[in-house]
Amino acid sequence: MQLSNRAKHIAQSEIRAMSILCNEKNGLNMAQGLCDLEVPFPVAQGAKEGIDSGKNTYTSAYGNYKLRVAIAKKQNDFYDQKVEPENVLVSLGATGAFYATAMSLLNEGDEVVLFEPYYGYHVATLESMGCKIKYIRTAPPEYTIDFEHLKSQISEDTKSILICNPSNPSGKVYTRQELENLSEIINQNNLFLFSDEMYEHFVYDGLEFVSALSIESLKESTVVISGFSKIYSITGWRLGYAITQKNIIDAASAFNDLVYVCPPAPLQHGILKGLNELPISYYTDVAKAHQLKRDKFIKALNEVGLTAEYVKGAYYVLADISKLAGEDDKQKVVTLLEKTGIATVPARAFYQNSEGVYLARFCFSKKEEELDEAIERLKTL
Ligand SMILES: Cc1ncc(COP(=O)(O)O)c(C=O)c1O
Repeated sequence: MQLSNRAKHIAQSEIRAMSILCNEKNGLNMAQGLCDLEVPFPVAQGAKEGIDSGKNTYTSAYGNYKLRVAIAKKQNDFYDQKVEPENVLVSLGATGAFYATAMSLLNEGDEVVLFEPYYGYHVATLESMGCKIKYIRTAPPEYTIDFEHLKSQISEDTKSILICNPSNPSGKVYTRQELENLSEIINQNNLFLFSDEMYEHFVYDGLEFVSALSIESLKESTVVISGFSKIYSITGWRLGYAITQKNIIDAASAFNDLVYVCPPAPLQHGILKGLNELPISYYTDVAKAHQLKRDKFIKALNEVGLTAEYVKGAYYVLADISKLAGEDDKQKVVTLLEKTGIATVPARAFYQNSEGVYLARFCFSKKEEELDEAIERLKTL
C-alpha cells in the first residue's frame, strides 16, 4: 500500500515526540501544553449528571443548542459582541472547530498568511487541505508585525490571515491598533481572518485582551476559534467552538457531522453547567495564578542563563538555549532533558526554517510543586 499525498504532510508533532521521549526517561514534561488546574467542580459535576441523566446519545451536529446559547452569552458578557447562538458551532476542540470552518472556507491552492513562530496544528491542518502558506516572521521581544511587508506579501491566491491571540508559542497579545491595521489589509484585499483565541483568559500585567470580533470592521470577515481545553483543564474532553457568520457555521456543521457526528454529549452538559455557574472571578483568578507562575519560572530561567522575556499572554515561554551542548535546537533540548529531566519543545516546531534559532518552548502551566521541582532542576545546569 502507498500512502496518499495528503498523508505525507502529516508527521508526528515535535510536541508529541518530546512527550514520548520524556515518558521514556521519566522526565518532567514541560513540552505539552496541558493546563494543570483542577477541573472546575460544576464542569465535572455537570458531565457526571449528563451521563447519569441519560444524555448519552447524538446531539445536533452544531452542538447542543443550550450550550450554543451559553457560549454566545459568555462571548457577549466578556466582550459585548452581540453574538447569537446561530453564530456558534460546538466542535471537537478548537482543533475540530478550525478544521470544520477551514474546510468550509478554503479551497485547494488557496493561500493563508501565518506569522512565525506559529502553532504547528494550524500549519498541518491547512497543508492537509492542500492550502499554501505564506510565512511572515516576527521577532522577539514584541513580535511586531511589519504591516508594509505584510501588504507586499498578499498575492492573488491569498484568502486569509491567521493569528493566534494570545500566541502559542510567543505569548504575543495583539493590541486594538494591530487588529485595526490587520482589518484594513483584510478588507482592502477581500480576505478573511482566523483568530485563534484559545488563550483569551491567559493575559497578564493588566493588559486588555481584544477579541477580533470586537473590531467593528472585522465583524463580517472573522472566524474566532476558542475552546475549553485550557481554561477548564480538560484537554482530553475535546470541546471547543467557532464563532462566525451563520452561513459559515451552517456549512461547518456539515463537516462536523461528517467527521465527528457531534461533540461528546454528556461532556457538553458539563461545559454548560460550568458556563452557567462559574463566576467571572473564576477566569480572572486563573490569569492571576498563571501570572505568578510566569514570574517565578521566567525569573529562574534567566538566572540560569536560559534568557527569556516575560510573556504577555498564554502559558508558554520561548527561552534561549544556545548555551546548551548540541548543534541545533533539537540536540539542545535533548541535552536539557538528559541533564535535568525537563522535556521542552525545540523551536523548529514553530518555524518553517529554524536554522540558527536556538529556542525551546517551556509550558509553565504546572502545579506549584512541579514548577518548584523544575526550578531546582534548572539550577543544576
Ligand atoms: C493556539 C491553540 N489553538 C488550539 C489548540 C487546541 O485546542 P483543543 O484542545 O481545544 O483542540 C491549542 C492547544 O494547544 C492551542 O495552543
